[in-house]
Amino acid sequence: MAWRYAFTISGILIPISLLYSYYRYKFNYFERRGIPHIKPAMLSRKERSKHLIQSAYEKFKASTPIVGIFLQSAPAIVVLDLDLVSRVLIDDFSSFCDRLGEHLDENDLLHSPDNAKWQAMRRRLTPCFWSAKMAQIFPSVIRAAECLEGKSGGLLQSEYVTIDLKALCTSYAANALLNCVFGVEPDDASESAVTLRLRIKQLLVHEFKTRLSSKAKGSLVDAECMKCTHAQTASQKYLDLEELVRKTRIGRNADKANNNNILHLLADMLADDEAESSDMNRLGYELEAMHLAVRSLATLLTGFANSALTLMHCLYELASNIEVQRQLRQEIVGVLHSYEHHFSYEAMGHMHYLDQVVTETLRKHPATELLIRRTLREYHVPNSTHVIERGTCVLVPVYAIQHDPDIYSDPQQFDPTRFDAAAVMARHACAYLSFDDGPRNCLGKRLSKMLIKVALVRLLRFHTIARCEDTKQPFEDYSRDVESISDILVKLQSI
Ligand code: HEM
Repeated sequence: MAWRYAFTISGILIPISLLYSYYRYKFNYFERRGIPHIKPAMLSRKERSKHLIQSAYEKFKASTPIVGIFLQSAPAIVVLDLDLVSRVLIDDFSSFCDRLGEHLDENDLLHSPDNAKWQAMRRRLTPCFWSAKMAQIFPSVIRAAECLEGKSGGLLQSEYVTIDLKALCTSYAANALLNCVFGVEPDDASESAVTLRLRIKQLLVHEFKTRLSSKAKGSLVDAECMKCTHAQTASQKYLDLEELVRKTRIGRNADKANNNNILHLLADMLADDEAESSDMNRLGYELEAMHLAVRSLATLLTGFANSALTLMHCLYELASNIEVQRQLRQEIVGVLHSYEHHFSYEAMGHMHYLDQVVTETLRKHPATELLIRRTLREYHVPNSTHVIERGTCVLVPVYAIQHDPDIYSDPQQFDPTRFDAAAVMARHACAYLSFDDGPRNCLGKRLSKMLIKVALVRLLRFHTIARCEDTKQPFEDYSRDVESISDILVKLQSI
């Protein structure tokens, strides 16, 4: 009988002790490597990402260039030193060019885990986003911004409406994506255009909500993974979109052709490309361009959802900072006056305070709060004895850097003058990473800034924006109800 008890007890104890030894070994990872770290505790889901990374940054930034943390049970390195951030993103890019591979989407060429595929796609798309090309796309953005007038255009002097910033900004971003990328005009009422518009709106609103609620939950890493997982399943659904785009574009009246869009530019690039100069005709290049654009749709949707998110934050900040809004309107009216009230790409380039307002919005509310890389090879951290193992997840804490009071004094204050030329020069180049940096930086930086600026000029030229009774203050209060973020209401009043 006794041997039976002994047998049962050892049957329980041996697996427990094996499991204990395994986890002890696993969680001693950083101790074995001599890397300062935060010991894993029984963390809440929330603490695991945003707050964990924030507190690791604050606690260790003065004493070490890197700190180890555990994301669930996987070791990850948080980069704290800005010189090292610069090495990770730019100088030693070849060791860190990988994004977190296993979550990436094979079908989205811009997110392909295969670096050669990513590079080829990036090389093709890059010229479409140059400044001269943005000037070409500017009229399409202006057309897309007409939907903003729908909310406010009918107001008589000093009348006001209460608007939900989420609805306003997502509707604008979806219109802009359709018009700027695919050349689908807001008034195209053909069956395929209507279906396409509906599908793009649904996808964009879904992406926007996912990003907003992940940010609210503070689950940064989960947000990134969710983004990629969503992309993986979504990319299958995109395949039929290619057919819809084809029907909409090929079916339209040639006289009404809108050529101020990425698809058109991409088709031009393909036609000019030596390697592509086969016997393809113009239609062939258009079809190839459509194929490439649809295969990048997951990334494009994220980019346009980020633009909607940033515009929303910007309008919220302007409603809360009336003096900044007044100064911005003064600049807008002044510059437009010198351009005979014609709003052009060139005029927009002269609105410097406008640029600072958008930049400060992205400093305070970065759409991507964490950059995630994975080491392709073992990496010796310069000027230290630390070695990062191949395959380790490396995190650049954008939010923490951009809220560091040693870099940006009183970081919760919305202050566009932080981005005066002299102030920018005085800071480390990697103190601002809202669009990432280095070879994998945001391809749509110019386009997204243009989208946001056009909307701001359109709205502020003839309206003031202010908090109303239902506006929550501070913005973080919208995060309390993390499952469904309520309407973000402000008052729009005609001048
Ligand atoms: C305010 C709006 C935007 C912000 C804050 C933003 C920010 C970023 C960031 C931080 C990355 C790097 C992501 C990472 O390393 O994980 C990125 C990548 C990218 N963004 Fe944006 N983005 C915005 C809008 C756009 C738009 C409108 C487009 C569309 C054309 C776009 C296209 C891209 C592309 C293609 C990449 C991938 C680049 C590559 O891996 O080579 N972005 N963006």
